[in-house]
Amino acid sequence: MRRKLIAGNWKMNGLLAEGTALAEALVNLQASNSVNCDLLIAPPATLISPLATLLSGSGIALGGQDCHCEPKGAHTGDISAAMLADLGCRFVIVGHSERRNDHAESNTVIRQKARAAQAAGMTPVICVGESLEEREAGQAEACVADQIRGSLPDDGEAVLAYEPVWAIGTGRSATPEDVARMHEAIRKVTGEVRGADYAARCRILYGGSVKPANAGELLQLLDVDGALVGGASLVAEDFWAIAQAC
Ligand code: G3P
Repeated sequence: MRRKLIAGNWKMNGLLAEGTALAEALVNLQASNSVNCDLLIAPPATLISPLATLLSGSGIALGGQDCHCEPKGAHTGDISAAMLADLGCRFVIVGHSERRNDHAESNTVIRQKARAAQAAGMTPVICVGESLEEREAGQAEACVADQIRGSLPDDGEAVLAYEPVWAIGTGRSATPEDVARMHEAIRKVTGEVRGADYAARCRILYGGSVKPANAGELLQLLDVDGALVGGASLVAEDFWAIAQAC
């Protein structure tokens, strides 16, 4: 029904030598170990062009980690969706909590970025997730529902990624019970926003300390359609082990 997607968010990691070595290791693993899922890596923007060449024909998709909402113009330091697509990106992460927090990105801005990605022919991976304070206050599902209603475009393709902020980079993933409950809630809200048919086919990834040790249990959950992996995506064998858990 929904083919799983394992996505690696390299974040701000990787100079040219180590980034190309990591990509080459993934291509070599793919050549000798099949997986039953789609694969995506989102390297720093500086590595997209060399990795596009390396990954050409591998079936491993490339993605950006962010994009500007405008197609071009006086936005020093920013990168447009069209520029990412021009280099071969098929996806772009938008609304990651590190950008929501570090760059004060609102749901409105994130929806605009997602629309820009769609207009450039890419699929946005829209990140949502509550803070520890919101979870402890019993507001996790309300917070995530608000983020979806505010950042999911009214039409076009998108992947959703649930990343509880308190699980990112902490080694403390959400429990399978919490993940299952939240993903079910996300699919319900997505249905309210975009209709039942779209909700049924929209892929919802989990992110937040996904490792080879916990991937199997998380990926077998009904409404978990893959993973958005940070730290473990920087080790080829670990990223591959997570993909093989699909
Ligand atoms: O975008 C994925 C990332 O936020 C998860 O990071 O290191 O907890 O897998 P990590």
